[in-house]
Amino acid sequence: MRYLSAFISYLSSSSILVSASRSDCKCYPNDACWPSKSDWDAFNTSLSGALIQPIPPASVCYPSQHNHNEEACSIIRSQWFNSSWHAQDPISIDYPIWANNSCNPIFPNGTSVTGDPDAGKKGCSLGNYPVYVVNATSAEHVAEALKWAGSKNVRVVVKNTGHSFPGRSVGYGSLSIWTHNFRAIEYINDFKPISCPINGTQRAARLAAGITGVEAQAEMAKHDSIVVIGGNPSVGLVGWLTGGGHGALSTTYGMGADNLLEATIVTPTGEILTANPCQNSDLFFAIRGGGGGTYGVVLEVVVKAYSTPQTTFHTLAIGSPAPNVSKEYWDLIGFLHAEMPRLKAGGMQGYYFIVGPPATPTYSFLWGFYLYDKPNGTVEALMAPIEARLKKDAAFFTYQSNHTTAPTFWDVFKESQNELVATGGAAYGSRLLSPESLGDSERTAKVFKEIGPSNDPLKPNGPFSNPVLLGHMIASPNEPSYYPDAVSFHPAWRKTLAHFIVVEGWPEGVAPEIIRSVYTDITSNKTEPLRKLAPDTGAYFNECDSFEPEWQTAFFGPHYRRLRQIKEKYDPGAILWCRRCVGSEVYTEQEDGRLCRVKGYGPRDREKRVWGDYSEDVSAGSGWGKRKESGWNHKAIEDVNENDWHKRAEDGNEWKNAIDAVDGNPWHGRSEEGHSWARRSDGEERQIWSAGDGNEWGKREAQGQNWSPGDGQNWGPAVGAEDMERAN
Ligand SMILES: Cc1cc2nc3c(=O)[nH]c(=O)nc-3n(C[C@H](O)[C@H](O)[C@H](O)COP(=O)(O)OP(=O)(O)OC[C@H]3O[C@@H](n4cnc5c(N)ncnc54)[C@H](O)[C@@H]3O)c2cc1C
Ligand SMILES: *[C@@H]1O[C@H](CO)[C@@H](O)[C@H](O)[C@H]1NC(C)=O
Ligand SMILES: *[C@@H]1O[C@H](CO)[C@@H](O)[C@H](O)[C@H]1NC(C)=O
Ligand SMILES: *[C@@H]1O[C@H](CO)[C@@H](O)[C@H](O)[C@H]1NC(C)=O
Ligand SMILES: *[C@@H]1O[C@H](CO)[C@@H](O)[C@H](O)[C@H]1NC(C)=O
Ligand SMILES: *[C@@H]1O[C@H](CO)[C@@H](O)[C@H](O)[C@H]1NC(C)=O
Ligand SMILES: *[C@@H]1O[C@H](CO)[C@@H](O)[C@H](O)[C@H]1NC(C)=O
Ligand SMILES: *[C@@H]1O[C@H](CO)[C@@H](O)[C@H](O)[C@H]1NC(C)=O
Ligand SMILES: *[C@@H]1O[C@H](CO)[C@@H](O)[C@H](O)[C@H]1NC(C)=O
Ligand SMILES: *[C@@H]1O[C@H](CO)[C@@H](O)[C@H](O)[C@H]1NC(C)=O
Ligand SMILES: *[C@@H]1O[C@H](CO)[C@@H](O)[C@H](O)[C@H]1NC(C)=O
Repeated sequence: MRYLSAFISYLSSSSILVSASRSDCKCYPNDACWPSKSDWDAFNTSLSGALIQPIPPASVCYPSQHNHNEEACSIIRSQWFNSSWHAQDPISIDYPIWANNSCNPIFPNGTSVTGDPDAGKKGCSLGNYPVYVVNATSAEHVAEALKWAGSKNVRVVVKNTGHSFPGRSVGYGSLSIWTHNFRAIEYINDFKPISCPINGTQRAARLAAGITGVEAQAEMAKHDSIVVIGGNPSVGLVGWLTGGGHGALSTTYGMGADNLLEATIVTPTGEILTANPCQNSDLFFAIRGGGGGTYGVVLEVVVKAYSTPQTTFHTLAIGSPAPNVSKEYWDLIGFLHAEMPRLKAGGMQGYYFIVGPPATPTYSFLWGFYLYDKPNGTVEALMAPIEARLKKDAAFFTYQSNHTTAPTFWDVFKESQNELVATGGAAYGSRLLSPESLGDSERTAKVFKEIGPSNDPLKPNGPFSNPVLLGHMIASPNEPSYYPDAVSFHPAWRKTLAHFIVVEGWPEGVAPEIIRSVYTDITSNKTEPLRKLAPDTGAYFNECDSFEPEWQTAFFGPHYRRLRQIKEKYDPGAILWCRRCVGSEVYTEQEDGRLCRVKGYGPRDREKRVWGDYSEDVSAGSGWGKRKESGWNHKAIEDVNENDWHKRAEDGNEWKNAIDAVDGNPWHGRSEEGHSWARRSDGEERQIWSAGDGNEWGKREAQGQNWSPGDGQNWGPAVGAEDMERAN
């Protein structure tokens, strides 16, 4: 697992030093605690035979494998970029790097279908694909799997379609619960949530966990209805909507999570619960935007349905004649973003692409925007100022602006193609950008030019210099009418103009160090300017930088603390774990792929200003233990569970430097009250978080406590080197 381990060591170099004993880790094949064959057989019997011991589908391509079959392999090669094909396989995923690229399809000459010439030589192995899969078709299958895996200390993953960008649907040595075969779809004219004291009923759809967006929409079309689904047809519903969920309909009709009315969920302790705003309402809140794969396994969701709208689809395609049209191009991009709030207010929503050298010979721009129930002439009126500008710039750009109107959404959506997946290694970073952050077209041009495609060979860049920018003008500004407070995705979504992604790829088969440097470039050089552009927003959990720093705040903002409590309530044994999911801090994914408990300091002795025995398990996962592991002891800080300073230390910065690193990070945007960090080490004042955001610091501030030294609260010394001492 060289590739994955490289990323993980970059991510948490110090945590790898944690010398966890075997019992602190999940059980893995070849460990004494791994269940015996007869245990697995008994488990299979309890599942009525639904247990699969999977083999990677591309194993048929490898002459060393007993099932080698070139004809079967040619089918796998033809389907490898097809996301629906990965979804119908028990283990295959869209981004096989998370499985350690351990068995990608190859040509007879040994080159992989994505161009790694050494793939054949490396051979085919299980890698990080699960060891066993429950082909779940009943609540009992799921409950039994969770209870059994918990009792055996086996890692559990949940796979629906396998679309997850950060590889949340696979894991080394795991038992996978595969939800694809929960297949029911039901249109409901008069849905009423169980136990809720509300009058009236609503139009809804009851969708089993394995249903994809396009399958749900095709069924709704038969009832002249729509449900909000992902923009890409093959995306599932549960992973998508639990993480927030955007689509072609979401500005007008709400995010996927907004439209959740009720769900049936199996908790990690095996209880089968109905969650809605009136029963198990904490769980309902958590799955309405707080991420999939961590609170339990959802069996079915009930989502709001609407009468289908008349749908207009507008495309704008802009091209430039030569690669030297660069300044004009970025100026135009800045201009278009300053226009977007107007377009959005006028009803446009959808996706856009900023592409250029070296990925393509010249710069181009494309959008596909949808409008619903808008009178004829709307597009023309909205486009008039943009077309005027494009006509003025006719020397630099060609363009086509087309639109069609159809009587229903399905008439348009049924033509949508799935994006290609598994096409090779790529790293993503993203940020929610507010209208304010994009209001100054010159600044937008400057920032996007800095991180985007470029024809300048001297521009500092990652090793392959091939970034592509993807814009998503799909956020819903409106809270749902159905229990608006029970939504847990980042509140910044409501004021988001564009969920913005930067992608960089690498040729398959390059050295792990080079892949690591692409990830670093994405995190530090490409996504960081976006974080600075919109410091007071966040990022989309499902389409994120796989190494997003301070991810708890970035994905969930003020909701993190409550989500964490709900996770601990329903999954006290941390049976479910996924990368950068709520509550994932309690385990670290080691270099060898194992999940092992993070050891930290015990409760702090306030009198003596020291931490308890460092080997004590801080199940709250503050991560401070890592500092000691890497040679530093820290003695004067309050329990700072869930703040992210320790991650800076993981980056190799010491605590003192971590404070300096505050420069340019979102902290200083957050105060509404103008309080400051008195006497910081650099002598500057910085605003700190205000009270009321659920954050510890805010509370302290609300109590009149300050960060300055000598006020008895001891936050001040944290900025000074004198407050650290070498452990041992
Ligand atoms: C090609 C492509 C296009 C995309 N387009 C969009 C888009 O238009 N809009 C958008 O918002 N996102 C989009 N995404 C991102 C998408 O939201 C995520 O990949 C999401 O994870 C998909 O969830 P899923 O249910 O399909 O399945 P998976 O990827 O298999 O699951 C994702 C996560 O959800 C968890 N999960 C899945 N099912 C359950 C369940 N039943 N119970 C509990 N946990 C579960 C899994 O454990 C995992 O952690 C796209 C991704 C790809 C690859
Ligand atoms: C991952 O791949 C590398 C290189 O192919 C290999 O050495 C390593 O053993 C693999 N790890 C796992 C867990 O399969
Ligand atoms: C589980 O049982 C079924 C039916 O008896 C069998 O077909 C299947 O191979 C078993 N699975 C495993 C992993 O042994
Ligand atoms: C993609 O895979 C699905 C599921 O296997 C299949 O139905 C579909 O035909 C495939 N698409 C193409 C273009 O092969
Ligand atoms: C291997 O075969 C594929 C498919 O025929 C071809 O595209 C590729 O160039 C070949 N690679 C080498 C190293 O010969
Ligand atoms: C999973 O279970 C379904 C329903 O029982 C069955 O049709 C399907 O063949 C099974 N899939 C695999 C890969 O075993
Ligand atoms: C439901 O209707 C009753 C009777 O009209 C009314 O008293 C009550 O306030 C309504 N409840 C809600 C939640 O709207
Ligand atoms: C716009 O319409 C023209 C004429 O029908 C067509 O040639 C062109 O491809 C369309 N452009 C886009 C971006 O759809
Ligand atoms: C781009 O180069 C062409 C010649 O190759 C030149 O005519 C044109 O003026 C240049 N455009 C810009 C914007 O520099
Ligand atoms: C709007 O445009 C459509 C398609 O071009 C046409 O059929 C319809 O009659 C127009 N409606 C009005 C009110 O002009
Ligand atoms: C980030 O950019 C700097 C220059 O701005 C460059 O030196 C560095 O190599 C880049 N980092 C990566 C990982 O590409």
